[in-house]
Amino acid sequence: MKTVAAYSVKGGVGKTSAAVNLAWSSSRNLRTLLWDLDPQGGATYLLQTKPKPKVDAHDLVSGKAQLADVVRSTADKRLDVIPAHDSYRTLDLELDSAKDPERRLEKMLASLAKSYDVVILDCPPGMSLLSESILTAADVAVVPLLPSPLSMRSLEQVTTMVAAMKRRRPKIVGFLSMVDRRKTIHRELVESLPRDSEHVLPVVVPYSTLVERMGVERAPIATFAARSVAALAYGELWKGVSAALSL
Ligand SMILES: Nc1ncnc2c1ncn2[C@@H]1O[C@H](COP(=O)(O)OP(=O)(O)O)[C@@H](O)[C@H]1O
Ligand SMILES: [Mg+2]
Repeated sequence: MKTVAAYSVKGGVGKTSAAVNLAWSSSRNLRTLLWDLDPQGGATYLLQTKPKPKVDAHDLVSGKAQLADVVRSTADKRLDVIPAHDSYRTLDLELDSAKDPERRLEKMLASLAKSYDVVILDCPPGMSLLSESILTAADVAVVPLLPSPLSMRSLEQVTTMVAAMKRRRPKIVGFLSMVDRRKTIHRELVESLPRDSEHVLPVVVPYSTLVERMGVERAPIATFAARSVAALAYGELWKGVSAALSL
């Protein structure tokens, strides 16, 4: 089982959109699970699922309940979801009182190793114990980068954090998100970022109302606009991620 985290220190950069579309691509031929770890529940909403209300963050972290108890199936036979739960707001505190918190998520996920080929973690923004536990569980961290002069800095925040991790370290795969090619600075960054950083793929997800439309359709973009530039870009992103996972 391979684990991918859609991660950034920042919110609103395209993590959830990437997580949902990567999960869709993966589930074309691999048994895939998306775990929505953000209590805002964006991926849960987009994939039309609902949490099992009785099992909360404490039950999962303490081992009173197993992840398998909270898995929901979707219309797609190879795609399952662990929906976000309101109690995930306290995941950090729960981890703080657990033994070996950095490895806790990895251990929880190990119980699913026989059931799935790929797990995608949709992460809340931040740089917390939860982030560290997520990144320790991940083989690859996918980091959406907004095309701004600060994008290199937000990538460096992730590479620095990963370099300081004591246990397993994920590979980092950045890509440019919400690119508007009419803007000179966006075109410049599309050229320079993949050239200047070994961690950035030459994959460009354009700024597109079709990505926003996922919230209306409540479905991955490829299910309603398969030939769009944005859907093709997410397909390319999956190719880059699966190469990084050696799939
Ligand atoms: N490529 C894109 N083009 C246009 N809107 C986008 C794009 N990617 C994401 N969005 C929109 O931006 C908002 C934040 O995206 P989201 O994927 O939820 O980011 P995050 O998970 O990092 O907070 C959402 O409303 C989403 O529909
Ligand atoms: Mg999100």
